[in-house]
Amino acid sequence: MTYPVWDSQVAESILASLASDPGPVLISLQALQEHFGYVHSEAVALIASTFNVSRADVHGVLTFYHELRTTPAPEHQVHICAAEACQAMGARSLQSEVEGAVSAEVSKVYCLGNCALAPAAVVDGKLIGRATLAKIVEELK
Ligand code: FES
Repeated sequence: MTYPVWDSQVAESILASLASDPGPVLISLQALQEHFGYVHSEAVALIASTFNVSRADVHGVLTFYHELRTTPAPEHQVHICAAEACQAMGARSLQSEVEGAVSAEVSKVYCLGNCALAPAAVVDGKLIGRATLAKIVEELK
């Protein structure tokens, strides 16, 4: 997945389009991450001034939600469910296998809502049920 390089003018236009939304800080952070793949360090001050909130408030929201990134996203991301049903179906060993075999960022998540098809994984945004190393590698191609 590729994203455009950070551009503060583009970021300002994204924020302007969200000005009338309730709870604009989280929505703004999500919108900037969706556009650029992460939340650039300049975004905190930009959001604070746009919505008349403190930088501390923006930083607090940014650091509270684990899905918000402050560094550019890697080319590929694999999330492997580590909750109970998936653990029972071998998610831990799958995670070890995947970490040793692919160059993607591999991280744990806790329940993808796909427990009936455990172990579950998300590869570059696509949900995979009964995940195996082969399925994940195939999806990364
Ligand atoms: S426990 Fe893994 S998807 Fe629910």
